Amino acid sequence: MQNHSATINSEPKRKDMSKITIAIDGLSSCGKSTLAKALAKRLGYVYGDSGAMYRAVTLYFLDNDLDWNNEDDVKLGLSKIKIHFENIDGKNTTFLNGKNVEDDIRTMRVSDSVSPVATISTIRKQMVAMQQAMGENGGIVMDGRDIGTVVFPKAELKLFVTASAEVRTQRRYEELLAKGWNVDFEEIKMNLLERDRIDSSREDSPLMKADDAVELDNSRLDQQEQLNIALELAHAVLEG
Ligand code: DC
Repeated sequence: MQNHSATINSEPKRKDMSKITIAIDGLSSCGKSTLAKALAKRLGYVYGDSGAMYRAVTLYFLDNDLDWNNEDDVKLGLSKIKIHFENIDGKNTTFLNGKNVEDDIRTMRVSDSVSPVATISTIRKQMVAMQQAMGENGGIVMDGRDIGTVVFPKAELKLFVTASAEVRTQRRYEELLAKGWNVDFEEIKMNLLERDRIDSSREDSPLMKADDAVELDNSRLDQQEQLNIALELAHAVLEG
C-alpha cells in the first residue's frame, strides 16, 4: 500500500493522495479487467467492474422478457435491479438482487445482447451514477469503455488498453475453455468484433481514448509485464 504525502508546492488533487482513481478503458477482452484487478490488489484499492453491471442488467432483461428498446420496460427493469459486488475466495463476484450471477453474466447469451443494452441512455445514466458512487473516495481501479471519458473524467491515471483481435479472441477462448464451457473460436471472434463495433459507434459515451489517457498495447506483453508498466505509471502519479 502506498503512503505518499502531497508535495509542498503543488495543490493536492485530493485530500488523500495515497488513494488515487485509476480508469482503464479498452476494447472487449483486451485484458483490461485482468490488469485492473491485479493493479487494485497491489495498491490495496477497490476493483470496479463496470462491464459486469451492464451484463447484470442484460441478464435481468433477458430473464424477465423485458425489451430494452421500450422506455417503460427500461424504467420497470431498472427499478427492480439491485447490483452489488462481494469478494468471494479472493474473486470479485457480481450479485443481482442478492443472487450470485458471476457465471451467468459471462455466457454467450448475455455477451450477445450486452452491447445493444449498453447503448440505452437511461440505463447508462443509472450505471454511471452507481460507478461514481463506488469511486467517490478514490482508491479505485475501474475498467470499462467510458471510465476515463465519462465516469471519472478527473481520474489521476487513465489507461487505454489495446490488443489485436486475434490475441483478444485467443485469450477469451482460453478463459472460457478453462471454465469447461463448450465454445467456438469463430463465434467468440464475431462477438468481440460486433461488440467493438457497437461500443465504439454508439451515440451515448462511445468507447474512445481520453485525450490524457496512456495507450498500452499488450499484444506482446504477458500479464506481469503489463502490470509492471501500469504500476510504474501509478507510482509516478503517487509520487507527484
Ligand atoms: O467489459 P465487458 O466486456 O464485460 O463489458 C460488457 C459490455 O458492456 C461491453 O460490450 C460494452 C458495455 N460497457 C459499456 O458500455 N460501458 C462500460 N463502462 C463497460 C461496459
